[in-house]
Amino acid sequence: MRVYVTRKLPDEVAGILTPFFEVESWPHEDVPVSRSALLSGVETADGLVRLLTDRIDRSVLDGARRLKIVANVAVGFDNVDVGACTERGIAVTNTPGVLTESTADLAFALLLAAARRIPEAQDALKRFEWKAWSLMFLTGRDVHSATLGIVGMGRIGRAVARRAAGFSMRILYYSRRRDAEIEGETGAVFRPLDELLRESDFVSIHLPLTEETRHLIGERELSLMKPTSVLVNTSRGPVVDEAALCHALERRTIWAAGLDVYEEEPLPAQSPLRSLDNVVLLPHIGSATVTTRTRMASMAAENVREFLLRGKALTPVNPEVLALRRAIEQPNAD
Ligand code: NAP
Ligand code: GLV
Repeated sequence: MRVYVTRKLPDEVAGILTPFFEVESWPHEDVPVSRSALLSGVETADGLVRLLTDRIDRSVLDGARRLKIVANVAVGFDNVDVGACTERGIAVTNTPGVLTESTADLAFALLLAAARRIPEAQDALKRFEWKAWSLMFLTGRDVHSATLGIVGMGRIGRAVARRAAGFSMRILYYSRRRDAEIEGETGAVFRPLDELLRESDFVSIHLPLTEETRHLIGERELSLMKPTSVLVNTSRGPVVDEAALCHALERRTIWAAGLDVYEEEPLPAQSPLRSLDNVVLLPHIGSATVTTRTRMASMAAENVREFLLRGKALTPVNPEVLALRRAIEQPNAD
């Protein structure tokens, strides 16, 4: 069987696949696969390992005659047409859990950096603007004891709540359902979204990007936030209406933002975000530690190996495909 990989993988990760499959890989580490290479790569592939930069839509799937699994090297799978994969009996997997703590660390780093103006302060020092200790020089916002609103209390949201509890923060959350365990552990209190936005000093978003969550935070929602508040987004750019956010930051109807994700990635050269001094911008590095990125890639490779050799996936997004395949391959198993 043949596996196509859309980016050069570390040798130890490639080694999960090479003993069992013919593996072809886009040769670059830092350049996304071209559309034409992706289309020809999947033509005869049984398995695909792909990064979040590589859109997997019907036009890719239509040319993939033998494809049985799309293994995503990310927990977010908004850039894969899961419905179209399911229709074709193709399993989709992602990498939940292994990146939770690293991404929560980064969300908290952004929260602290925006609140305490850390990049701005370092820039000032390097530009020789630090002339004397002054009473109100580069003053920011207190994080300890402030109110944090977590939007999306899933794996990463919960990990951020635990960090916030360590900073003696009051925690509010909005999610699809209540989470009694995290309420008990951190004192988090459920609030409808509008109330959370009104009451929070910091709002941190941890939702997946879906049709329901696209632009969930728009002009109206931003207008509910305090003028002293900070918005942190490490989920997906389109969950926030970026034009409305720029406007709010320019007019200082919110105080600052910390962003790791954008409506268009990489962030366009002409983005107005680049010229604002009250936003901290990172290049989608939420999970970017050596250990975590290696685990994510290994998990994707293991999903492909297990599915192609044994019909099992470790972390399926559409488990109905696995059940269907099992029923076809072993009709009398149950
Ligand atoms: P998760 O465990 O699935 O958490 C998402 C939470 O959002 C769940 O509690 C979910 O509720 C809730 N939710 C979903 N749709 C909602 C809606 N319409 N309204 C209210 N709540 C809703 O996912 P995770 O592992 O924490 O990851 C969250 C997202 O972070 C990923 O999807 C990905 O896009 C992003 N991410 C970014 C980076 C980065 O590098 N910046 C790294 C990792 C992840 P249910 O439990 O009911 O589904
Ligand atoms: C990264 O953005 C992920 O979804 O894992």
